[in-house]
Amino acid sequence: MTLENIDFRQRAWVEVFPKAIKSNTEVIRNLISNNCLLMAVVKADGYGHGSVTVSQAALEGGASSLGVATLQEALDLRKSGIACPILILGNLVTREDFNFCLDWDLMPTLSDSREALLCQKLAESKNKSFDVHIKIDTGMTRLGCDLDAATGLIALVDQLKNLSLQGIYSHLALADAELDSCADIETLNQKAKFESVLLDIKGRKKKICRHLANSAGTFRDKSLHFDMVRVGLALYGYSPFANSNKDCILQPALAVRAKVTLVRDVPSQTGVSYGHSFKTQRPSRLAVVGIGYADGISRALSGAMKVLIDGKTYPQVGSITMDQLVIDITENPGIRVGSIVTVLGEDGNSSITPYQWTEITGSIPWEILCGFKYRLPRVVI
Ligand SMILES: Cc1ncc(COP(=O)(O)O)c(C=O)c1O
Repeated sequence: MTLENIDFRQRAWVEVFPKAIKSNTEVIRNLISNNCLLMAVVKADGYGHGSVTVSQAALEGGASSLGVATLQEALDLRKSGIACPILILGNLVTREDFNFCLDWDLMPTLSDSREALLCQKLAESKNKSFDVHIKIDTGMTRLGCDLDAATGLIALVDQLKNLSLQGIYSHLALADAELDSCADIETLNQKAKFESVLLDIKGRKKKICRHLANSAGTFRDKSLHFDMVRVGLALYGYSPFANSNKDCILQPALAVRAKVTLVRDVPSQTGVSYGHSFKTQRPSRLAVVGIGYADGISRALSGAMKVLIDGKTYPQVGSITMDQLVIDITENPGIRVGSIVTVLGEDGNSSITPYQWTEITGSIPWEILCGFKYRLPRVVI
């Protein structure tokens, strides 16, 4: 048998649905106005779905550019033949980083004058024009220049003849807060601060793309859209508003599945898995499933998560271990070695969502989606 014959779905895998990504992109495109652009945020390998698959589907669905976190992520997309504008949302550090950007036609985010001057120097030495975006910190307190330095930085970049300022942007810290809550007011404060900079540069002649909203900002209010929205989570089928996909018809773009690798009949009062945190209360049939915390199934879900087999729900019991977890299948003697278990995602009319996990672990859907490890092959459906 050659390696080509190996079934990727040996024990556990992630199924990825590009059609769902395309459809979600179309849903978001319909939500924003015709002259508002849509940047698909495909960092962290497309939130764990595979950045090339996701990018192609999002571009087909109407996204016009891509946002990534790192230079390497951007280079991977370029090398795979993706030609659209790509913005690196993280800060680059070295001269070499910016050099790669210039050579591969990638747009860096600038937060200060040192970065701007470095870009100018590189671009001048190659007699090229360098497309850049400036980020302004309006309240996230992470990347971006201080609010009172923004107008100066924009003026500096405008003066540097090899730099071409394509966009200015900021990032919302609390857009997924409940509407009308105190936290929600911070979103309006951030918007007001962003607009104060836009007012300062009103006389500027060159066209610029102004962008502020992530998924939550995009759903929350059209006034946050400006010239472009940068959407991540919603592309992957989930609303940033906890516990609901309400108001939109988003489709989950992945499912995590694993096989039953062993079926065991055990007597009542049998301790299961490390620590025996679970003891059977009746003679039980247990199934061992070939997926564990080394694949991205948090140990904090132990004894609290559920799985699906043929659309029916079964409880997971005992501690989740590195490579396997145990489920109680006493109710269904038909389950066998090789039966397919849905750990996350849809199975028939039933589904396990990241929100169910966040209620148990206190995690967030973003962390869950990009937490599946590379031991799980991505199978594009
Ligand atoms: C700068 C920036 N814009 C947009 C996004 C997309 O956010 P979301 O996944 O909530 O849509 C992110 C993701 O964290 C980000 O860092």
